[in-house]
Order: sequence, then structure tokens, then C-alpha cells
Amino acid sequence: MKAFIFDMDGVLVHTDRFHYLAWKEIADARDIYFDERINDRLRGLSREASLEIVLERYHGAPLSAADKAALCAEKNDICRRYLAAMTPADVPEGVRETLEELCARGCRLAVGSSSKNTKLVLERTGLLDVFDAISDGTNITRAKPDPEVFLKAAEFLGVPPADCAVVEDAEAGIDAAKAGGFIAIGIGPAARYEKTDHSIHEFSDLLTWAPDLT
Ligand code: G6P
Ligand code: MG
Repeated sequence: MKAFIFDMDGVLVHTDRFHYLAWKEIADARDIYFDERINDRLRGLSREASLEIVLERYHGAPLSAADKAALCAEKNDICRRYLAAMTPADVPEGVRETLEELCARGCRLAVGSSSKNTKLVLERTGLLDVFDAISDGTNITRAKPDPEVFLKAAEFLGVPPADCAVVEDAEAGIDAAKAGGFIAIGIGPAARYEKTDHSIHEFSDLLTWAPDLT
């Protein structure tokens, strides 16, 4: 293992909460039932694919493509208000220290996130400089479970997928990692997924998997 590719939302930072709150506000305003269990199915999916799942409980007048685009834009506005208010204090304990230790051991580090807000979050939380490469929703055409975002991250790092571990909280992300030929490490909900190669409970548990390449 020479490199680690991290999903962002729900792995590096708890922005998964903000995505939930934004979808909840959209749903509540339209009398659409939405809860945290439904939200778990949205983890790792694109904004547009997430909306389709939220709309499974919608029983109003048919929505045009323009209506759906407007809903996605509104969700993103709500979400970005939360994201823009983030600070380095929102990085969970142990995350920055673990990333720095992986770096010190000579491991290459990348982010592989479907989010188009990746750089905003990494800037606000002071994590941007820790990574050698960022692959996100702005450089892909197919979101997870397609492996494109991780394949691009590996390409940016110059490390073959078989030598990279992907760290994910989403089943869609574990599927993407396996489809791309990566080692899949699950945390949070993905730690209980049967396709996960290795499960971790704390972010710092990664240090037990990381080689010293120095
Ligand atoms: C991540 C999150 C998803 C989100 C997706 C797109 O994968 O886990 O919940 O839908 O990014 O994020 P965006 O910020 O572009 O709407
Ligand atoms: Mg995630």
C-alpha cells in the first residue's frame, strides 16, 4: 500500500450532517417524508441521484427537469451556507494528526469525493494542504458507485489502484473502490458492509494498516 484516497463527507469531516439537514429542509417544505435512514442511502451519490431518492416519497404534481434542477440548486444553497461556516475546529479529533503521520511515513494522500463543494470544505477546515491530489465532483462525469473519481485520484497521484486504499463511509463508495481495483477500507456505516475489505472504527485505526515507506 503506497497511497490512501479519502472520501470527504462522513470520513474526513461530518459534512454528511449538513447534506442531511439541507435535504430535510427541502423535503419538509414540500411535505415529503425524509429521515436519517433514507439519508443513509444518499451517502456518496451525486446531488441529482440523491434528489431522485428523496422524490420517491413525493406525491405532488409531476416535476420537469427544470424543476429538479431548481431543487438541486436550492439544496446546494442551503448546504453551502453550512459548509461556508465551517472552521478547522470542525475537523474531528485525530483526523489531522493521522493524516500528518501517514504523510510522515511517506504515504501519498488524496481526496476522492463526489462533491462539487470539496475544495470549499477543505479550504474552510484547513485540510487542503495536507493532500497531494484532489479528485472531486468537478472532474468526473460519473459519480459513485462508478470508480471514476478514485481512478482519477490514483492517476493524479501516479500510483496504480492496487497500491491504493480507499477510505469510505458509503456503500456506494465501497462499490466504487472495488470496481476500480482498490483496497476498500470502511468506516461508519460502510464498516458493516459485506464488500468492505477492512473495517475501522476510529480514523486513527488507519495507522495500523499504514506501512512506513521512509
Ligand atoms: C458526497 C456526499 C453526498 C453528496 C455528494 C455531492 O458524495 O456524500 O451526500 O450528494 O457528495 O455533493 P455536492 O456537494 O456536489 O452536492
Ligand atoms: Mg461519504
